[in-house]
Amino acid sequence: MTMTNRGQNVVEPDPLPDVPSADRPRHIAIIMDGNGRWAQSRGLPRIEGHRHGVQTVRMISETSTEIGIEAVTLYCLSSENWKRPQQELDFLMHLLEQYLIEERRTIMDQGLRLQVIGRRDRLPASVLDEMKRTIDMSAANSGTRLVLAIDYGGRDEITRVVRQVATEVTSGTLGLHEINEQTIDERLYTAGLPEVDLMIRTGGDMRVSNFLLWQLSYAELWITEKCWPEFTRDDFFGAIRDFSSRQRRFGGLNVNE
Ligand code: IPE
Ligand code: IPE
Ligand code: MG
Repeated sequence: MTMTNRGQNVVEPDPLPDVPSADRPRHIAIIMDGNGRWAQSRGLPRIEGHRHGVQTVRMISETSTEIGIEAVTLYCLSSENWKRPQQELDFLMHLLEQYLIEERRTIMDQGLRLQVIGRRDRLPASVLDEMKRTIDMSAANSGTRLVLAIDYGGRDEITRVVRQVATEVTSGTLGLHEINEQTIDERLYTAGLPEVDLMIRTGGDMRVSNFLLWQLSYAELWITEKCWPEFTRDDFFGAIRDFSSRQRRFGGLNVNE
């Protein structure tokens, strides 16, 4: 529903009428890859790909709100991306900071709740400041949860959980035999978010690149050759349509077998 400039509420038509709400993924995770290749194939520097990629991020958060997706997790920077040239990293940090400032208004207008997952100790103070402001400001929103994975690595996340569990066992607050899958789930960055139902990767590579290793266990994978800056709303709907037609078995059998 949106407000017109006359203050009337207008119910927008559902842009995805062929996929009932119950068949849509609750949590979508996206590996936003191919920015550099998109730029290079156009004779542009790699950073132009990152700059254009921000438009796709905007489209995804807006569309997710529109179609009622509960959570969207976007892979913005992996724990291994620090291997890149300093110039590219500096630009990525600048872009991130700009995004956190410029997007504040849209985040509030759309009722998005921002969350950031990953390590905090290697990011510039200015990025951390803007991040905190946007997270705090949007904390009471109840719309789509927009989760940015920044300096995130699945192995790093699991290692951190192991360290935490070991500390609790050593201090006697957690019994060794009490440890189960829920113990791990509750200590991951993604605690409290719905299970990842659908993982989209742009740029065509058939790998997970250290993204949400625990959480992707039974996620449906959807990979496109299209690069992130050229990924459209229709492509996004296409992924969701494909998802809704898949048979998920979770190790069991189809209900009619
Ligand atoms: C993904 O695009 C964005 C980040 C990793 C920050 P890339 O920069 O990896 O683009 P390609 O894969 O080299 O084309
Ligand atoms: C994954 O892309 C990380 C992000 C999209 C942020 P990469 O470009 O880093 O992955 P690899 O190196 O091709 O596996
Ligand atoms: Mg890449």
